[in-house]
Amino acid sequence: MNSPFRVIGKSFARLDARGKVSGKAVYGTDFAMQGMLHGKLIQSPIASGEILSIDIERAMAMPGVYAVVTAKDIPAQRYGSFVKDMEVFASQRVNFVGQPVAAVVARTVEEAEEAVRAVDIKYKELPGVFTTEEAIQAGAPLVHPAWQEYKAVPTVKRDGNVTNYARLVLGDVEKALKESDRVFTHRFVTNVVHPGYTEPRAAIAHWDDSNQLVVWSNTQLPFEAQATLAEIFKLTPSQVRVNLTVIGGGFGGKLRLGVEHYAAAAALKAGRPVKFVSSCEEEMTSALPRQPLTIELTTGVTNDGKILAKEASILVDTGATSGSGVGVASSVMLMLAGPYKIPNLRLESRSVYTNKTPTGSFRAPAGPQGNFAVESQMDIIADALNIDPLELRLRNIVREGDLAPNGQKLESVSLETCLLKAADAIGWKDRKPARGRGKGIACAWWTTTSGSSGVYVKLGPDGRVFLNTGCAEIGTAALTGAAQVLAEALGVELADIQIVSGDTASTPFDFGAQGSRTAFAVGNACLDAVTKLQQRMKEIAAKQFSAKPEDIEITTGGVKHGDKTLSLREIAAVAQASQGGLIAHGTFIAPPTLHDKERTENMVITAINSPSFHAHAVDLSVDEETGEIKIHDYVVVQDVGRAINPKYIEGQIEGGVVQGIGQALSEEIVYENGIVRNPGLTDYKMPTAMDAPNIRSFLIESPSKVGPYGAKGVGEPPVIHPPATIANAIAAAVSARVQTLPITAEKIVRTLAEVSTKAT
Ligand code: MOS
Repeated sequence: MNSPFRVIGKSFARLDARGKVSGKAVYGTDFAMQGMLHGKLIQSPIASGEILSIDIERAMAMPGVYAVVTAKDIPAQRYGSFVKDMEVFASQRVNFVGQPVAAVVARTVEEAEEAVRAVDIKYKELPGVFTTEEAIQAGAPLVHPAWQEYKAVPTVKRDGNVTNYARLVLGDVEKALKESDRVFTHRFVTNVVHPGYTEPRAAIAHWDDSNQLVVWSNTQLPFEAQATLAEIFKLTPSQVRVNLTVIGGGFGGKLRLGVEHYAAAAALKAGRPVKFVSSCEEEMTSALPRQPLTIELTTGVTNDGKILAKEASILVDTGATSGSGVGVASSVMLMLAGPYKIPNLRLESRSVYTNKTPTGSFRAPAGPQGNFAVESQMDIIADALNIDPLELRLRNIVREGDLAPNGQKLESVSLETCLLKAADAIGWKDRKPARGRGKGIACAWWTTTSGSSGVYVKLGPDGRVFLNTGCAEIGTAALTGAAQVLAEALGVELADIQIVSGDTASTPFDFGAQGSRTAFAVGNACLDAVTKLQQRMKEIAAKQFSAKPEDIEITTGGVKHGDKTLSLREIAAVAQASQGGLIAHGTFIAPPTLHDKERTENMVITAINSPSFHAHAVDLSVDEETGEIKIHDYVVVQDVGRAINPKYIEGQIEGGVVQGIGQALSEEIVYENGIVRNPGLTDYKMPTAMDAPNIRSFLIESPSKVGPYGAKGVGEPPVIHPPATIANAIAAAVSARVQTLPITAEKIVRTLAEVSTKAT
């Protein structure tokens, strides 16, 4: 097929490839400054208690030690996304094991580590709560006794350990459940998983000669880091400058401050630049893992499999601070309702404090948890009604023009195509080929996050094009995708483009590398910049040719007027000589997704913007003796709107599937009374290359009306479906269903034993 595009749809090598494969890229952990010191955190050994005293005298006398920083050194006390319940260092109470209470600043990392052991902190232990069920009991110990004093966004409805109570209501669920032929209720429990970026969180902070705070870090969101640091240190945003280093992965775990605030506080007190890098143990005990959810899901259906009603009660364990949990508790309801047409809904969620690690945003926050519940239950219902699981889905999925549960009208709906293709590719007709072998399927929708984006596009006098963006390249190649959009529209080659990224002082604002939005939003800002550049190019050429700007024609690589032409390079040279160069500020903000606000109460996320649709299918074997899973084939069919760079989209899909397999089968941060029992990568089992199965990706192009060349967000969706897809295949293989994640070999064997006991 002949593509109408020169650059879009082609699998060019990413622009950051050379630096990364040659080892020349400077990551956050590599970055160094003359005269810098090193900081190490002192973490709480108890899950709940009061700080009685901190004695730093002995530590201060140790060799190489410059300072010990505590809460007393921080100007502002509380900050946070939806509820301001976070502290840089614990001031009076500690709420989880691993909570930073102080930090030591020393000449070397080793000296800092030595001095950490010499700081004497006395605590009074208090009772804690470790599960959401305990935390919502009347009279349960409060994780934050002073919760009423914390500022919060007006949307949230709080009460004690509950940081938000939200609902999505449509129709009359009671009546619909009564009218249903069958009603199914199940409980699903999901696991705490680490975002799994390769590079730990790292930052260097420095206060310059005008008392501006300058930070270099591997954050996903330089502008959010700037705003949060300004809030913490009582500065205006412009008094904080955040520079990006190269970033070794984020997956949402680097959206919020990582160690920037510790570095800033330490540098302020020590009077020198200070660097912090998280240790592996700090990553596992005090980074921002995925929230574990408990979901009780009730579904009413007719005998022929039409869903009449869904009811859900959801508990989101946010850990010791609410963080993104409030958002997760909202988006999970959009996940539980979909991607099906359901006339009656009553979904309720509570986000709840416990005395455990604060949780955060991890790739498709709420996605895998919600999908595991809704798609596992779809298969249970299919079995009970004796309907093929694919057929049951086809009878209920949303189609073009249907309304989503929030009342938004769905466009570019490709779900049926995705399901049918996935089923066909996995060989669905033979879904239970033999005892011990089975196939599973699951589908979902996902949002393309909105938010504003700005770029400067500058033409060098040699024709080189600089794409200057405040958005980070976190490893997805999404900025290469944006550059392909720019190259296509401007009529240059991808190799002509150089990306300049992330310095809050010199780049335009960008909402940042989050929520599958980078290529989509930055790409659209590039299109706007091209429109503006081309207008300037016409004006410049018009002067050269003594013609009118409207008579100048844009060509690939330049302009023409009659038989006279100017290349981009020539125009840029004229612009540089006569008018300070050629530069344009392109901007983009996604149009609002219209929906019915009456259906949602206290939800902080209420719409699915430029939705993408997808289906996964797997073929696997279960060893009934050992519970071991062998994945033979894994198929992903994902509607990407427009595949800007197919190779890197497949990379996102393969990485997402492997990450999802980790959540499905092996990964879990295990707590015992708030203490992490497996704070290292030997006991926290992430899949390795040896565990990665054969993954086949099929890209569907059902264009979005908003995205550049029709693109939809692609980065997050692949991590959503693996837990449900695999759970469904296991059930098909051995007629045993595990409803808690991860589905370990041990759980499979135990479930098989229960099934056979019941049978005898
Ligand atoms: Mo994503 S969790 O918005 O990086």
